[in-house]
Amino acid sequence: MLGNFVYSNPTKIYFGEDSLKGLYEELPKYGKNVLLVYGGGSIKKNGIYDKVMSILEECGKAVTEDSGVMPNPTVQKLYEGCKLARDSKADLILAVGGGSVCDYSKAVSVSAYCDTDPWEKYYLKMEDVDNRIIPVGCVLTMAGTGSEMNGGSVITNPEQKLKIGHVFGDNVMPKFSILNPVYTYTLPKKQMIAGLFDIMSHILEQYFSGTDDNTSDYVMEGLLKSLIHSSEVAVNNPTDYEARSNIMWIATWALNTFVAKGKTTDWEVHMIGQAIGAHTDATHGMTLSAVSIPYYRHIMPYGLEKFKRYAINVWNVSPDGKSDEEIASEGLTKMEEYMRRLGLVMNASELGVTPDMLEGIADSTLIMTGGYKILSREDVIAIVKESMNQ
Ligand code: NZQ
Ligand code: ZN
Repeated sequence: MLGNFVYSNPTKIYFGEDSLKGLYEELPKYGKNVLLVYGGGSIKKNGIYDKVMSILEECGKAVTEDSGVMPNPTVQKLYEGCKLARDSKADLILAVGGGSVCDYSKAVSVSAYCDTDPWEKYYLKMEDVDNRIIPVGCVLTMAGTGSEMNGGSVITNPEQKLKIGHVFGDNVMPKFSILNPVYTYTLPKKQMIAGLFDIMSHILEQYFSGTDDNTSDYVMEGLLKSLIHSSEVAVNNPTDYEARSNIMWIATWALNTFVAKGKTTDWEVHMIGQAIGAHTDATHGMTLSAVSIPYYRHIMPYGLEKFKRYAINVWNVSPDGKSDEEIASEGLTKMEEYMRRLGLVMNASELGVTPDMLEGIADSTLIMTGGYKILSREDVIAIVKESMNQ
């Protein structure tokens, strides 16, 4: 049942090959000082940096650069970014990159003028923002996280072995995001497939919850089918515009709060994945691919009807002459075959997980209550162990 809700999404999207021109419309809305945030240099190699800089200059902006945002941005980097944002009196933070750059920019936007420790306030205590927020705009170069149209911001504290996401409200979501599918052509295959599975996982985390007849589930089945088809095309031909543009748009809709309406949502795969990330600094999408099949096989008996529906509606499993368990299980087998075809990491050992980390990973895993089974600590250990053996 959809129940009562308020829906609003303030992020304005500019989509397509010409979308960077949207900067001409957006930049004049903000003051002169722009903090340009980017990662390890991919935007310099593929020319996006030059294009953005020339528009910033044309619009008369004073630009301060904050580069070197790493995948899985750290709390240490966040502290540095806050100082840079204050010192440069940033009126706008322009994030040019993937989910890490976008997440980090949102973290800086709420933390620069926070008079207590932002890690403690936002990530450990999950408090709301009560200080000045610097607006964020985004030029996206990687499809996956949905960070371009949501309030999520994931920060890692390597010393505390914690990787935590805070979902901020409307006032922190990007004011605008530029989505040019062509910018994703230069992604290395590993990052491209990690992003593809991140998208799939976002949809499944929301789909595998609840047992009612919910419009969101039908929407998600459509998104999944389009994703599966487009991903197979894009992996074989990375410059297929049609496939790349579908993928970019699916990623945005997978996690911009729309399909969560009426759902309790699970997110346990992400919680285990983030714990693995905190211990290994592994690529986000790969932490999810490594644990998904063991996790879903583990919870399948508790959500059998939905897993059966998933098998039939998403993976075209024929139900004829089969038990519910057989149908549901065949769906997961087809999903696993697809994941192996893409080249995803299926074994947590390949991400650097060793047996002595298992207890620590279980300690760092938040237990969620919206899915089909509330995991015990032993369940988490069993799932990661299973991943190390598959
Ligand atoms: O740093 P550069 O040099 O730019 O290289 C990046 C990085 O090494 C590279 N890359 C990005 N676009 C490229 C490119 N290389 C060539 N051409 C391009 N066009 O790809 C690498 C990975 O980038 P990153 O931003 O780390 O990837 P992603 O978009 O997957 O973001 C991952 C982060 O987002 C968080 C994850 O936990 C992780 O920290 N998430 C954020 C969410 C949200 N805001 O809602 C939800 C997600 O579940 C996720 O947790
Ligand atoms: Zn994710």
